[in-house]
Amino acid sequence: MTGLFVTFEGGEGSGKSTQIARLADSLKADGRQVVVTREPGGTTGADILREVVLAGGAKRFGNDAEAALFAAARADHMECVILPALAAGHDVLCDRFVDSTRVYQGRPDNAAYLAALERAALAGRMPDLTFILDVPAEVGLKRAAGRRGTGGADRFEAEEASLHEARRLAFLTIAAQEPERCIIVDATGPVDEIAQTILDHVRVRAAAEA
Ligand code: TYD
Repeated sequence: MTGLFVTFEGGEGSGKSTQIARLADSLKADGRQVVVTREPGGTTGADILREVVLAGGAKRFGNDAEAALFAAARADHMECVILPALAAGHDVLCDRFVDSTRVYQGRPDNAAYLAALERAALAGRMPDLTFILDVPAEVGLKRAAGRRGTGGADRFEAEEASLHEARRLAFLTIAAQEPERCIIVDATGPVDEIAQTILDHVRVRAAAEA
């Protein structure tokens, strides 16, 4: 019996890491074995690529080269961590996955290129469930700014807000296209309620797969 492959997507301040930790604890309490991981990263090689792409906030590559690096990191992560864990019957909870590439590296003219990268990296295994933690820009950016301890919105943050809204819309569009896999979760509510909603969905899917 293979484990469940569950991914979490969402923008700044959507609470992904809190919810992943909560879900991992609940599934373990249900007697399941759980692997928590993240992208980009999750293996030694993928962590090196994470550094190459994200470190220091400097943009070192063009958009499509960057997409290829995320895909290379993903291929390593799939081969060395995710597929073996699933085959051993463990659930895998991953912070960001292919939908982040579609949203962050998606451009009007590169859909076929991204689809080819996706096919190559995934080895035919899409997530069983993807939770899209949905927050409006003003809520997510305020939470993120609170964590950073900075003050009110400046021009940069205003630009960030329109980008956040565009990405939010792109995640919601993916969810509309793949309703079997994707579940949109209103991430503005209380943490406990969100955690329960997510757990209910996962338990239903786990029971269906058993
Ligand atoms: P990270 O520091 O993990 O923070 P968070 O998930 O909380 O935002 O940042 C990962 C960044 O990498 C994030 O800005 C989204 C970006 N990213 C892509 O652009 N494409 C991808 O395929 C992935 C997995 C992430």
